[in-house]
Formats: sequence, C-alpha cells, structure tokens
Amino acid sequence: MMDSPSRPKLFDFHGVSMTSSFTDNWETVQNFQARPDDVVIATYPKSGTTWVSYILDLLYFGQMSPERQNTIPIYERVPFLEITESGPNIHSLIFLMSLPTTPRLIKTHLPVQFVPKSFWGQNCRMVYVARNAKDNMVSSFHFARMNSYIPEPGDWNSHFQKFLAGKMLFGSWYDHVNCWWKKKQTYSNLHYMFYEDLVEDTGREIDKLCSFLSLSPSAEEKTRVMSEVKFDNMKNNAMTNYSAKPGMNFEISPFLRKGIVGDWKNHFTVAQNEEFNEDYKKKMKDPTLQFRTEI
Ligand code: A3P
Repeated sequence: MMDSPSRPKLFDFHGVSMTSSFTDNWETVQNFQARPDDVVIATYPKSGTTWVSYILDLLYFGQMSPERQNTIPIYERVPFLEITESGPNIHSLIFLMSLPTTPRLIKTHLPVQFVPKSFWGQNCRMVYVARNAKDNMVSSFHFARMNSYIPEPGDWNSHFQKFLAGKMLFGSWYDHVNCWWKKKQTYSNLHYMFYEDLVEDTGREIDKLCSFLSLSPSAEEKTRVMSEVKFDNMKNNAMTNYSAKPGMNFEISPFLRKGIVGDWKNHFTVAQNEEFNEDYKKKMKDPTLQFRTEI
C-alpha cells in the first residue's frame, strides 16, 4: 500500500527512524533546561503513556486543582517534549517551559540516548513504562491507521515486518526498551515499570510509583485515583480519551482501544508468531529484562 501524500515519511536520524515533527526543533529540545523537580514519563509509543501520565497528574494535582482535571486535556497537562506541531490543543516547548505547576510532568518517546542532557544533570525523576512487543505492535498498528500525523502502517503483515526491522517511529522497540533498561544501572532516579503489571494490579503499581516519587496519598485519595484511571472511566472522560485531538479518526479506531494484555493473539498468525519468537530471542539477550505477553 502506498503512503498517502499527506502522511509524514520516516527517515534515518542518527540511527533511529523519525519523522520531522519530532526532529525539527532538535537544538531547542536538546538545550531544554530541566528543573530538578521535573518528572519525566518516558515510553516507546503505545506502552501506556497516557495511563501513567493520568495517574501521576492525579497523584500530584488531583486534590488541589479539580478544575485542572475537568478542563485541561491530559496531553496539555503532561506536554510532549519533542513534538513540534503547532495548532489547536497541541502545545510546544514554549508552553512546557512556562508551565506554572510544580512539578512539571513531561512526556517523551525519545530513545534514552536522545534525552536532553539537562534532565540527567538535574537528576530528574524518570518513569519509564514498557509494554510487551506483541501487544505494542498491535496497538501501534491501530493507532497508525487512525492518526494522520504519523506514517501509515500498511497492511498488518507489512506493519509486522517493519516492527521487527525497527523501522518504526522512535526506532526499534527492542533498542528502546533495552537501552532504557541499561540506563537503570547507572542512573538511580529511574523507575522502570511494565504495562502488564499495571493491568494486573494497578494499586500495587501506584504504591510503587508513590514510593519512588515520595508521595503519600491517603487511602481515599488512592481509591479515587484507582477508580479514575480505570480503562472505561478514561475512555468516557473527554479530558483523557483524546477525543478533542485533531488528526485522529476514532471511526477507524479509538485512542483507548482495548486496554488489555494478549490482544496480539487476535492478530498474529501462527507463522508470524514463530518468526517473531525466533527473532525476539536474537534481539533480547538480557535475561534480567523479561516481558509477559499474557497475565
Ligand atoms: P490498546 O491500543 O492496546 O488498547 P499510549 O498512551 O502510550 O499511546 O498507549 C495507548 C495504549 O494504552 C492503548 O492500548 C490504550 O488503550 C492503553 N491504555 C490507556 N489507558 C489505559 C487504561 N486505563 N487501562 C488499560 N490500558 C490503557
């Protein structure tokens, strides 16, 4: 299938496949001045970024500013560091730098080697969310079908092949999750968490996040956060379901699509699964980094 002319094209950027929307502002992004209390939410796309963004936003600001929750979409409360598009509801670094709230919650999909130096220099807290490759691939397939700001996925098999070859926006899933995992060995202010764990026991994962961030919500507050961040509640909440975002066609696929572990079983053929598993063994050599494809 041909890419439609209006869709952006991937190109090699220092060894990583990117589109210009995320590289046009490179100098400004690289020179970003972090504050020591900034909290970064880093993910490979489609790993649960929005879910964890909303959890953190509620933990930090849920009590003190209900208005924030009711009037500002989550992608404005937690701005996207490297995006350069401008337009209604899409905010840039200028907006991010002037955020009045403390801490600033900042989303990025950058591979670890592209993260602006200032974040490391200021010893900022980083939350990395990883999701198993099979479900990640399925989620990114449907997202690319519905989002005209990113390259078209083609049919399922061509998306599958591109994923294995690492020819995806923000590069190879395999490199992304591995390099962030390795970073943990030298940078202690990094909390590496898994989408599957969050699905399995949201409360337990919120406790771990709170301990990492030195937050101590009351039992009531935690119960409220757990309820707000349930898949159905986020899907029905106009401030978290991306319904106001331009460029997305929810008739093709909603942003909050299924929110489960194991949907890959509805997409992978037996042959694809074998090919995937063979290739996976070659690329994922670190025995300490283990993903679950079912729970
Ligand atoms: P699916 O496409 O598999 O449904 P990101 O925010 O990084 O773009 O990730 C989007 C994925 O996270 C989507 O996966 C979305 O449904 C899922 N997600 C978002 N909120 C969720 C929640 N509260 N519970 C479970 N999954 C959630």
